[in-house]
Amino acid sequence: MADSATDSSRDLTNEVEANSIADGGMILGHVGKDHVVLARSGDRFFAVGAHCTHYHGPLAEGIVVDNTVRCPWHHACFSLETGEALRAPALDPIACWRVERTGDQIFVRDKMPQPSPARQRVAGSRRHPSSIVILGGGAAGLAAADMLRREAYEGPITMISADRDPPVDRPNLSKDYLAGEAKDDWIPLWPPDTYEERRIELLLGSPVSSIDPAARTVLLENGTRREFGSLLIATGADPVRLPIPGHETAEVHYLRSFADSRAIVGLARNAKHAVVVGASFIGLEVAASLRTRGVAVDVVARDHLPLEHVLGADVGRFIQSIHEDHGVVFHLGETVTSLDGRKVSLSGGSTLDADFVVMGVGVKPSTALAEKAGMAVDNGISVNEFLETSVPGIFAAGDAARWPDPHTGERIRVEHWVVAERLGQAAARNMLGLREPFDAVPFFWSQHYDVTINYVGHAERWDSVKIAGSLDRRDASVSFFHGGKKRAVATVSRDRECLEAEVAMERSTVTVRRN
Ligand SMILES: Cc1cc2nc3c(=O)[nH]c(=O)nc-3n(C[C@H](O)[C@H](O)[C@H](O)COP(=O)(O)OP(=O)(O)OC[C@H]3O[C@@H](n4cnc5c(N)ncnc54)[C@H](O)[C@@H]3O)c2cc1C
Ligand code: FES
Repeated sequence: MADSATDSSRDLTNEVEANSIADGGMILGHVGKDHVVLARSGDRFFAVGAHCTHYHGPLAEGIVVDNTVRCPWHHACFSLETGEALRAPALDPIACWRVERTGDQIFVRDKMPQPSPARQRVAGSRRHPSSIVILGGGAAGLAAADMLRREAYEGPITMISADRDPPVDRPNLSKDYLAGEAKDDWIPLWPPDTYEERRIELLLGSPVSSIDPAARTVLLENGTRREFGSLLIATGADPVRLPIPGHETAEVHYLRSFADSRAIVGLARNAKHAVVVGASFIGLEVAASLRTRGVAVDVVARDHLPLEHVLGADVGRFIQSIHEDHGVVFHLGETVTSLDGRKVSLSGGSTLDADFVVMGVGVKPSTALAEKAGMAVDNGISVNEFLETSVPGIFAAGDAARWPDPHTGERIRVEHWVVAERLGQAAARNMLGLREPFDAVPFFWSQHYDVTINYVGHAERWDSVKIAGSLDRRDASVSFFHGGKKRAVATVSRDRECLEAEVAMERSTVTVRRN
């Protein structure tokens, strides 16, 4: 029998029995050449484009929650009523079709015109800063600029970035792009014209050297100053640089920017052997991509199991085994003691021969500008629930920000793409006076060859772990509990379960708040 979530052969312009779709259910079909999802929420029916505007994820395999549909791959959330991408990582809307109900029969009719990206401005207690400067051209910075225009902010927006490239799809830099499976033109988040169309001034290759909160200006390294009515600091995080003796004699690379990834691709074309230092997400994704290119890879890491501190011993062992199956050689419980040209010496006494070395030993939040300007900083720029720093009118978002998380009751800082974008979106709305506490449940994904791990929640520590299914069969969900409460869930090939866990965590926090 055809699967109603994966088979698009059904013509949705023909009648569909209302009762054939359960509340919260979806069926896939088509209207002309377009793949369309017909979804039910309560007694309402909606027809929307079947593919997520982030990476084309199959929305019919996601879930419907209160007139929205969530993508199973990286948890973007779209309004079923307007198609708007309400939550990152998708930024662009999906198309909507008109739905008619006659008795018990549903018909999908014509495609509705795409609404303008700018919403109608809601009257009320809005602020309209004279200008907005966004410091940083990464995930949080771009998502904030996008949201400011969507919220019909009309004033000048300037995005200042130290990078020479415009904002890019950074997660791709260690995955498909590095593996040679994504083209250069897939990497920019927006085509160049979009900045002009949306009146966003983009200053690239422009490091900022200081912020003057009293004068409401930022000073660029080139000596020019920019005034701001309101400022968003989205400077991300900087890679940790280990002072390994001899590092200047070897080809040592860090992976943060598009330029870094291009440089590693250039080396990998003619390399036979690389050493990755650090069994971090980025280190391991680099290892996987280099193996896909046929480069032999050794991973050296101080940990005894990869990613054990984030995902626990079972998932750590599972990830190690996937890499070993692909030929990666691990040197765990070891450090690099020196580099000498092609020779990499390890603390255990062995040496490795490397055409180049990639360091993936973690990042630290980029907080120097905020600290110098007198803002409160504590392992990240401290912000309140509205993402405002200790200086009114200056906000922070992304890897650099540490916020009060309602789900754990702790102040947290995370280094996840989707969270950075959602923080940027929320900060943008709060810069306009909407006063919305940031309460998204953290989510990230990581890809190792053909295995993707999705993770929702936040567990810096746990006292028990429960595995459902089997990691060896690559079909599992792993729940992390602390004090009897489920803090996080990691899944392999169980995307729907991961989405359901996200919704459950959102709802349990709402319940706690209401009580
Ligand atoms: C290779 C790679 C792969 C990743 N893959 C994943 C993944 O699969 N899943 C996931 O969840 N997360 C992933 N991450 C993490 C994710 O990319 C980050 O969490 C996210 O980019 C953080 O966004 P941000 O806007 O805070 O900072 P960034 O995206 O780092 O942007 C910071 C910006 O600030 C600018 N900047 C910094 N200092 C200054 C200054 N003084 N003046 C001017 N500009 C400045 C930088 O140039 C940059 O434009 C990955 C990260 C990397 C590096
Ligand atoms: S493909 Fe839908 S969120 Fe990534």
